Amino acid sequence: EKNGFDTFMLKEIHEQPRAYQDTMRGRINAGQEIVLPDIALTSAEVRQLKHIHLIACGTAYHAALIGKTVIERLTRIPVEVDLASEYRYRMPVIGENTLVIAVSQSGETADTLAAMRQAKYWGARVMAITNVIGSSVAREADDVLFTLAGPEIAVASTKAYSSQLIAFYLLGLYMAQSLKTLDDTAIAGLIAMLEKLPLQLVSMLRNMNPIRQVAERIAENDHLFFIGRGLDCSLAMEASLKLKEISYIHSEAYAAGELKHGSLALIEENTPVIALATQEELLEKTASNIKEVKARGAYVIALALEGCTGLEKVADQVIYVPRTHPLLTPALAVVPLQMLAYYAASFRGNDVDKPRNLAKSVTVE
Ligand code: F6R
Repeated sequence: EKNGFDTFMLKEIHEQPRAYQDTMRGRINAGQEIVLPDIALTSAEVRQLKHIHLIACGTAYHAALIGKTVIERLTRIPVEVDLASEYRYRMPVIGENTLVIAVSQSGETADTLAAMRQAKYWGARVMAITNVIGSSVAREADDVLFTLAGPEIAVASTKAYSSQLIAFYLLGLYMAQSLKTLDDTAIAGLIAMLEKLPLQLVSMLRNMNPIRQVAERIAENDHLFFIGRGLDCSLAMEASLKLKEISYIHSEAYAAGELKHGSLALIEENTPVIALATQEELLEKTASNIKEVKARGAYVIALALEGCTGLEKVADQVIYVPRTHPLLTPALAVVPLQMLAYYAASFRGNDVDKPRNLAKSVTVE
């Protein structure tokens, strides 16, 4: 049932183009408009929203961090993101016009479920983004936006994460339509780029050799850094978690601009730094952070957009990602990072599908 792949994780990574298509299917009308027939939240209700809170754990939390930027940029509604295990205890300010969105692949994560029940108790309307029909989160939410990634077996989440990004793009655009924060042309433009993502992924997946070489190099290291700004910072957190959980290499994800406030002290000769630099408006700043770590001896692997020439002189190695709208870039850029974790774990001889100490569905708080 691994469909010719050695592991479920590798199979699921390769299922992402399909997962994107399935998650978009029936939700885009003639390339012009987002329709979400499964959710009851009306345009009038969207216009009433004052705050959105996103709650999730682990990888789903990292998807929510991207979701925050996407929703805020498209709608200008303020969005907060919380770890589900923290949300309940911090007494969040919830009003009548607060929408709480629980993000969970399995729909059974105890922390997420508990936070969601608490939010309901406090009077919030609760929406779920989940991959499992009939799951507890799906049953208890007022609205459910399903990701249609298909069953995810590998403990390390891949296609569920990236499909959650697709769900956030759809939801953000749906809200933007209701609020008229974007005009029809801008929406159609974003939809066109969204619809191109699956094919772009297919071509990326054909050429993973450069990232395999990077993995071979870092597999010997005990610790490394991922750095990035903006969406790349959120993506760095996911890349770091993926690497830790299956390769057991310690890594930290850092906002590129924050390193110099302390952690730069950990950079030594040959410490690998994986610099995510796919957000062009932030490129110059990230490039100067790359220079900071290079000057302390780091070995820098940069992830940049195709056609970006500025980094070849500052980084030791550059991996390229196809161009799309900046908000959509994480849905492509995540793939080489998943493969980096995959190859590093394989080089170390680890059981990729069943990492030590972890369970697929975490039903204790
Ligand atoms: C990491 C991973 C976990 C889950 C987390 C939440 O690869 O899979 O961090 O993302 O346990 O699980 P769900 O999304 O099922 O609520």
